[in-house]
Amino acid sequence: MGKRIYTFDTTLRDGEQTPGVNLNISEKVEIAKQLEKVGIDVIEAGFAAASPGDLKAVRAVAEAVEKPIVVSLARTNKEDIDAAVEALKGNDNVGIHVFIATSPIHMEKKLRMTEEEVLEQSVEAVRYASQFFKHVEFSCEDSTRSDLDFICKVAEKVIEVGATVLNFPDTTGYITPWEYAERFKIIQERVKGVENVILSCHCHDDLGMATINSLAAIEAGVTQVEGCINGIGERAGNVALEEIALALETRYDYFQKRTSMNLKEIAKTSKLVSRVTGMPIPANKAVIGANAFAHASGIHQDGVLKDKTTYEIMKPETIGLEETPLILGKLSGRHALKEKLIELGYQVNEDELRAIFKKYKDLADRKKEILDDDIIALVDDQTKNE
Ligand code: KIV
Ligand code: ZN
Repeated sequence: MGKRIYTFDTTLRDGEQTPGVNLNISEKVEIAKQLEKVGIDVIEAGFAAASPGDLKAVRAVAEAVEKPIVVSLARTNKEDIDAAVEALKGNDNVGIHVFIATSPIHMEKKLRMTEEEVLEQSVEAVRYASQFFKHVEFSCEDSTRSDLDFICKVAEKVIEVGATVLNFPDTTGYITPWEYAERFKIIQERVKGVENVILSCHCHDDLGMATINSLAAIEAGVTQVEGCINGIGERAGNVALEEIALALETRYDYFQKRTSMNLKEIAKTSKLVSRVTGMPIPANKAVIGANAFAHASGIHQDGVLKDKTTYEIMKPETIGLEETPLILGKLSGRHALKEKLIELGYQVNEDELRAIFKKYKDLADRKKEILDDDIIALVDDQTKNE
């Protein structure tokens, strides 16, 4: 079976930080139920202290799902932790995600705190939170621009007082995969007790490296990956969880690890998140984009018609899609046109095919995408001239 990678979905919290996205309670519940179906292990439902509405939303999500652990984000202060407790009380499968920034720039300019103060506040917050929750995640915000010795020290101290998950986010999407992996190796060597907690990565996509950074972290021993469906989130977004699930599945030969995501539910989940958040999915987006399984060039179409694996490393059916039709355009060849004619119910001989193909190419020079109706018109035209 290989090793299992836990999935932590923050579509409802970091995803909601996407500029222009605002989810109400019933929208959060609708998405959370689908996240349960797609097999997410932990759902970050929101930030209970942020607003009374978000507190209610966190509570509603915790009540709506059974299997995933539902957590609320909280800063390292009593009020935030109390708000999370208030939101989640009465539900069993719940936890808290406490965070504080640990990088010099954040500590000095944003928090105006010293390392000692950040360390002390982290320990106090985790100690306090662990009275109420068995599942306590602690994050060093901006960890990838933080001093490694310092975050190792913070990690060790919060484990001593009850942290069960340690997360080292690449908050600004700054790190390279090699550096991130190296950091996780060092953390595992140095931090006492780290073998008893879940080690987690959380990558943003500012430089387009969120997926490779998460995979590098997994290769370096991380056992939880945090991200959002469709890669939505603050600025350039968070890592797209469907990309991680499919990368691990498709290259299981290399990683020997997979998530417990129910891959067949991925397309549905992606469409739902796009519809509810109003965030369109770019056509060329990996795994879930409209073009992800589409073949446009004649050479590719010919190859795929002979054997799909010539150009498809994963099947559309794997993520719950119907087979993707070939896109007919000016680069398509006779083989693709013939298949389309058969699909539309026409039986043509070689002479007819040659004649229709010529007209088709003339049309394709003028029109970007040839639709079924265009083909039908070409065949009608050809039969009239016979
Ligand atoms: O990116 C980040 O650092 C976060 C934290 C709150 C974990 O989202
Ligand atoms: Zn984040």
